[in-house]
Amino acid sequence: MSRSKSSYQAFIAATTLLVASSLPGTAQDDDALVKRGEYLMNGPVACGNCHDTRAEDMSPVPGKEFAGGFRIVDTGIDAYAANITQDAETGIGTWTDEEIITAIREGTTPEGDIIFPPMPVPSYNMMSDDDVKAIVAYLRTVKGVHNEVPESTYGFPQQPMPPAKGEPAPDPSDQVAYGGYIVNALSHCFECHTGPDANGVPDFANALGAGGFMIQLAPGAVVSTPNITSDPETGLGKWSDEDIKKAITQGVRPDGTHLSPPMPFPFFANMTPEDLDAVVAYVRTIPPIVNKVERTEFQKTAFP
Ligand code: HEC
Ligand code: HEC
Repeated sequence: MSRSKSSYQAFIAATTLLVASSLPGTAQDDDALVKRGEYLMNGPVACGNCHDTRAEDMSPVPGKEFAGGFRIVDTGIDAYAANITQDAETGIGTWTDEEIITAIREGTTPEGDIIFPPMPVPSYNMMSDDDVKAIVAYLRTVKGVHNEVPESTYGFPQQPMPPAKGEPAPDPSDQVAYGGYIVNALSHCFECHTGPDANGVPDFANALGAGGFMIQLAPGAVVSTPNITSDPETGLGKWSDEDIKKAITQGVRPDGTHLSPPMPFPFFANMTPEDLDAVVAYVRTIPPIVNKVERTEFQKTAFP
């Protein structure tokens, strides 16, 4: 796939259309903030899916949570996930809270560098102030790991996201709206599961959730994302709620086959039952799109 300047701009324009609705939130004390951040990062937000240091076999290296170095290669992109531990030299230990928040939701560093794609900053742009502060509060508690990460290179001009609105998340009692907030602003399901346009970037306007997006895990290891719309034949229309939950949390389909990375199911396994229910309720509302996606040979052989 290629990300030319114009297709990249279309990608940004399209992603800014994904807007979560909002209701007033509540203030939280410091402990509650750290706990919320820990839950978000180990659960629905799954920053470690990219930021944990990984061994050759893709498994996270113990003691190197968030220490970076995972390489993501795509047309025009050769990116290394940054060290986001508190190490002052190689991590973000000297950054202010505001600087970290700006990096997450708008995609710029204090030096003015732009850090995405592939980091799903367009999704995080919709994150509430409470949740982004909780993530920073938790990051402050993670021990610093000294790990120098190579520089990322981009073969196209990057653009930051506009200033985040920071609107409160919908009230969890509105299950579909809250599920939409998790899916769109936290778990960035659509940045992987939306079908590509002619330029290979997710076509949010026409193929939301339709799958068929190609992700390269390593040279020769390409995976395709499935259709998660409610189409009964090519999507999840005939799956039960339990089927969807089992795929999301255990990485196992109704037919017993296994999901490949980068689907973050080891993180989604830590979601609360209420949040999972909300995700499923929202996923049920994704308008059906007929699009049969074949798994790649790599997926079929490595994750039967
Ligand atoms: C799809 C992979 C991916 C996900 C998910 C992701 N990131 Fe990143 N992130 C990256 C990459 C790659 C870079 C480095 C970009 C560069 O060097 O230009 C980065 C850079 C950063 C930086 C800048 C650090 C620096 O030293 O420049 C911060 C802060 C950050 N990410 C925080 C987060 C947080 C917090 C989350 C979860 C809310 C997250 N990221 C989720 C891939 C990801
Ligand atoms: C980083 C990319 C990524 C993200 C984020 C992601 N997925 Fe996935 N997902 C995948 C890939 C790749 C597969 C297919 C793996 C395979 O076929 O081996 C998959 C598989 C699935 C499946 C199984 C469907 C089928 O027909 O086999 C479901 C259901 C699913 N994802 C739902 C979700 C939901 C809901 C979210 C957000 C909460 C989400 N995914 C976030 C990449 C992702």
